[in-house]
Amino acid sequence: MEHTIPFTSTNLMEVVGAMKLDQAFRFSFFRLSLFALLASPAAAQLSPGFYSFSCPNAELLVRGAVRSASAMDSTVPAKLLRLLFHDCLVEGCDGSVLVQGNGAESSDPANKSLDGFYVVESAKRLLEIWCPGTVSCADILVLAARDAVELSGGPSVEVPLGRRDGIVSSASDVRPNMVDTVFSLDQMMQRFAAKGLSIDDLVVLSGAHTIGSSHCRTFGDRFQQASNGSLVPADNSLDSNYAMELANKCFAGASDSTSVANDPVTPSTFDNQYYANLLANKGLLHSDSILVTDPRTKSRVQAFAQSPEKFFASWADSFVKLSTVGVKTGDQGQIKVSCTNM
Ligand code: HEM
Repeated sequence: MEHTIPFTSTNLMEVVGAMKLDQAFRFSFFRLSLFALLASPAAAQLSPGFYSFSCPNAELLVRGAVRSASAMDSTVPAKLLRLLFHDCLVEGCDGSVLVQGNGAESSDPANKSLDGFYVVESAKRLLEIWCPGTVSCADILVLAARDAVELSGGPSVEVPLGRRDGIVSSASDVRPNMVDTVFSLDQMMQRFAAKGLSIDDLVVLSGAHTIGSSHCRTFGDRFQQASNGSLVPADNSLDSNYAMELANKCFAGASDSTSVANDPVTPSTFDNQYYANLLANKGLLHSDSILVTDPRTKSRVQAFAQSPEKFFASWADSFVKLSTVGVKTGDQGQIKVSCTNM
């Protein structure tokens, strides 16, 4: 939380630049899935133009904040995307993951390595100057994650807006809703289904692991310690050279903060390389590699590995679905002044 993004004339130029880019080049997927919008009455109240009159610059201001932060720290886009996933799975996409403090969702061990909160808070501070009490933290997070994907080379997705912020953020809600790397495919499917997300959404959204990194401990289950202390693969599901690379990096003595790229080939680009990695037995987490070993998901993995267009189009649909999980609208919830406080 120690980071802040100073809003200078340069930042504002970026906002203006973003506006031009938006108009000129936006490769927009107008694929607001009817299915997603009709999934619940609350989700049906969301709309892309929600802030058109009340805060017309909302999207540009968030985009400017994400751009500035990402220019200073290239790990920001992946952090924002993961933040949104963890927000939506617990209490719906209501900004509850952003709340700081003992007992809040963010304090649960499953959320300990989440980061990027300050980017959302910086955007919120700016929005409170331009349109006080109008734009929810939940919407800011959705926009930030959407922009993070686009900035990393992924598709631009039009998202419906109008979410309100939750009034509950409890660590005890995290475990019963969150997925874990050691889950079986059935367990992951159950957790997704409970949020209205299908097995296809699981394959598509796991493609988020085309960017960002994971700490060594998160794939420790894939290795065993040999008698000489070295790490050896626990089974033959990992490509042997890749397994060796991982073991060398995460060998006993590596610090707790050591992490490796989720996608060893194009680590910072949002593309379909993740699926090619899976087919080459280079899926980092157990929950990644399971998608290629299980016949129920393998054909989707193959299709996405072959066609970036298919992946991007499916991403647009599944992202909108994820971003509308359990949303609060109308007179539910609140519009917060600060995203990190309840
Ligand atoms: C399906 C089951 C999933 C599991 C078990 C899972 C688990 C994990 C784990 C353990 C990490 C590493 C965290 C760390 O070491 O700090 C990670 C990273 C990440 N996850 Fe997932 N994840 C899943 C799905 C998703 C989805 C659906 C998204 C987004 C839509 C997502 C986005 C990310 C991103 C972007 C990172 C990199 C974060 C960074 O670099 O800071 N994940 N995930």
